[in-house]
Amino acid sequence: MSSSPTPPVQRIGIPRETFPGEKRVATVPDVVEKLIKLGFQVAVEAGAGEAANFSDDAYRAAGAEIVEGAAALWATSDIVFKVRPPSEGEVALMREGGTLIDFIWPAQNPELMQQLAGKQATVLAIDCLPRTLSRAQKMDALTSMAGVSGYRAVIEAANAFGRYFNGQITAAGKVPPAKVFIAGAGVAGLAAIGTAAGLGAIVRANDTRAEVADQVKSLGGEFVKVDYEEEGSGGGGYAKVMSEGFQAAQRQMYAQQAKDADIIITTALIPGKPAPKLITAEMVQSMKPGSVIVDMAAEQGGNCELTVPGEAVVRHGVTIIGYTDLASRLAKQSSTLYATNLLRLTEELCKAKDGHAVVNMEDDAIRGLTVIKDGAITWPAPPLKPAAVPAPKPATAPVAEKKGGHGHGSGGPLPAKTVVVLFAVAAVLFWLIGAFAPAAFLGHFTVFVLACFIGYMVVWNVTPALHTPLMSVTNAISSIIAIGALVQIAPPDAAAGGRPDELIRWLAFAALVLTAVNMFGGFAVTRRMLAMFRK
Ligand code: NAI
Repeated sequence: MSSSPTPPVQRIGIPRETFPGEKRVATVPDVVEKLIKLGFQVAVEAGAGEAANFSDDAYRAAGAEIVEGAAALWATSDIVFKVRPPSEGEVALMREGGTLIDFIWPAQNPELMQQLAGKQATVLAIDCLPRTLSRAQKMDALTSMAGVSGYRAVIEAANAFGRYFNGQITAAGKVPPAKVFIAGAGVAGLAAIGTAAGLGAIVRANDTRAEVADQVKSLGGEFVKVDYEEEGSGGGGYAKVMSEGFQAAQRQMYAQQAKDADIIITTALIPGKPAPKLITAEMVQSMKPGSVIVDMAAEQGGNCELTVPGEAVVRHGVTIIGYTDLASRLAKQSSTLYATNLLRLTEELCKAKDGHAVVNMEDDAIRGLTVIKDGAITWPAPPLKPAAVPAPKPATAPVAEKKGGHGHGSGGPLPAKTVVVLFAVAAVLFWLIGAFAPAAFLGHFTVFVLACFIGYMVVWNVTPALHTPLMSVTNAISSIIAIGALVQIAPPDAAAGGRPDELIRWLAFAALVLTAVNMFGGFAVTRRMLAMFRK
């Protein structure tokens, strides 16, 4: 009897990025080790990680083979990991039927898609990940790169700005804090808010999606609203093009902010559309000389009318930075995050850990990413199954129909009539208990009712995010049992010379030890959890 031969282990290749100025690399030595543990062979083009400070020796030490020249690398790799979409020359080097995992932007690059399809390739475009799937977050390179870029935008601004970010009182005089205005509070905008606030600036931000206001506040910024009622969500967490009326009101507000701000960082994007023009030439002119604008939307046309993509220019005394390589300017950090995102994706592709990637088109995340399968263009992916998307709340649900009107957002207060009836019923029940039950029972019962009431008021008014620390602290407090144990260890008749039962004393001692663990453990866990909420 002969068993079918096992196919040879697949080889993952990492070429050197060829896009001018690109410093990132698609994998890093730490991740190479993990890819090898998944059963793959890894080959890295000589010098691929140099610009991101990863030497060939470090890759070699991690178990990768260093290959001289792009042609040899592409020709011998079953799967290629890259950062920037491949050039025509790179597609020509690609192996027939090979797999490519990379940023592709299929909507913007139809010709590239045709070339790759012509190679019978399978292509997973990391930019097409269905980001709203919580399972997909670990693979979300768009978010990783936007986070790095948002941070770097603030650093670039600080570099071009002639003052401190934080306010200071020194012997040489008082320094006011810098005022930073962030347009668009998506992933990059929020990273910029956190960084600028961390440096001590006064940060204000605006976004068309009102739901981000709380996130802005939580990072130390102030959300500035446009004085115009319009819903800004265009689905999937993204924005939509706003009405003329909204845009006029927004321009007015931005004009005021421009006069006041020292630094403006714009991040506003709408999927598949040119970046909205938010900062006009007039606004730039109204800014104080020495102010800085960082236009993170430069590659998509820019949010500022005077931006020159890829360059830093000075207009009306204001430095306008339109760099399109912000993530690449922190190459070591962004390469590490990108490499980890690709590792997580590889783990999904190779669940058997046998060095073979399986592109399972039944898996929502993989289906979304796969833009070409064995030469057939499969982009765009069908919309996610409804189960994966939270059902929208009905806009005008009649209040009277909502049951159990307690807790957060689960309906308003009970109608006054119901409250009166409930109180009346409770009063009658209480009177009956008082009239017929033994006196001791009434005392315990009153404490019980009060405990329920206080518990209800305390727990239901706590923000859901704090429920876990609340549970641990409640756990600690529930150790009131300790008092019972103490009473048993030294019972009241002990003073009068009576000897407590030895067995009860030992049981009480055990209860005391266990409850002490519960108590101190509960408080320790609560402390650690609350520390996670502190900045
Ligand atoms: P993006 O890069 O497409 O846009 C950046 C921001 O610009 C967005 O917040 C958008 O609302 C804002 N914007 C667009 N037009 C504007 C205008 N005219 N004026 C002011 N602001 C404008 O978006 P990004 O950062 O890639 O993500 C958008 C959202 O998706 C974020 O809220 C993010 O938290 C969410 N997201 C959710 C994920 C998940 O559920 N797992 C994963 C990744 C992102």
